[in-house]
Amino acid sequence: MTSRPIKEKVAVHIKNNRAGELVFRTTADRLARARQRHPEVSSRIDVCLDWDLDNFDRSMERAEVMMTWDLPTDGLQQRAPRLKWIHVIGAGVEHLAPFDWLPPGMTVTRNSGIHLEKTREYVGMGLQMLNNHVPKFASDQRRRDWKPVYSTPIKGKTVSVVGVGKMGEASAQVAKSMGLRVRGVRRTGRPSRYVHTMYTPEEIDAALDDADFVILNMPLTPETENLIGEKQFAALRPGAGLINLARGGVLDHVALVSALDRGILGGAILDVTTPEPLPPDSKLWHTPNLIITPHVSSDDDANYTDLTLDLLFRNLGRYLEGRPLINRVRPKLGY
Ligand code: GLV
Repeated sequence: MTSRPIKEKVAVHIKNNRAGELVFRTTADRLARARQRHPEVSSRIDVCLDWDLDNFDRSMERAEVMMTWDLPTDGLQQRAPRLKWIHVIGAGVEHLAPFDWLPPGMTVTRNSGIHLEKTREYVGMGLQMLNNHVPKFASDQRRRDWKPVYSTPIKGKTVSVVGVGKMGEASAQVAKSMGLRVRGVRRTGRPSRYVHTMYTPEEIDAALDDADFVILNMPLTPETENLIGEKQFAALRPGAGLINLARGGVLDHVALVSALDRGILGGAILDVTTPEPLPPDSKLWHTPNLIITPHVSSDDDANYTDLTLDLLFRNLGRYLEGRPLINRVRPKLGY
């Protein structure tokens, strides 16, 4: 009698960072709940839930899949001979770029799509704050300066969303629902139902021309680094408002400070800076008409990791069936 080989389970390595915040940690509880939500996939995986590099090398002897924010990339193929797929627990993956370390045939996926509810709320709030001069009033308040500036309703004003991926589309969606005219800038120029007029990156000047607000949602790549600066601010309506939810590196902060000082921009809201955390001696802390939030805009405190695990398990289901994974990073594009 021949015995049938027992199909091995897929070994999955989850790397937590001790220095990371609780919101981003896969705790044993969160993993157990995800397993309960996805029983079929759960029965077909072995998970090593790890911290920093405690059990990395031992686990990499078997792991086919890894979920992490970061990893040692040098000599990865030798160190992790069976690894096929890395899921990154952020929407942005610029910290792993360029992807010249990625062994041929290995796939990287990212967390795009799990930030959308919070993105919509933050962008709705930010647009209302900018339209109602809240960044300016917050600066005036610190100086005990009572200086009325009136505003008109936001409906009918124009916003340009630079970078219309999933988060950009969520930004466009809320702006449209508030009655704004929405312009978008997207690499492919492909239309979106939330964007009235879509432009390609080559047409960015037209997308920004006389806009009341600009929202930055693009990935940080060599193409987008420092993309938004003096020339782009000058294209907007004088006194326009800016929201950056992308990465600090897409924005020229020296130009931003100058544009806010001179009233070229009426207000700005940054959720991201370079570097992070923003050092105490940064000029941005003291720039008028600027509100800074510490990279919290789109991360749901209670649900971020549950949503991340749902995405991982959904993709694990596809992996087990040999179907293409969703949210694949295109290494050449860098996102
Ligand atoms: C947050 O900035 C992320 O990349 O998810």
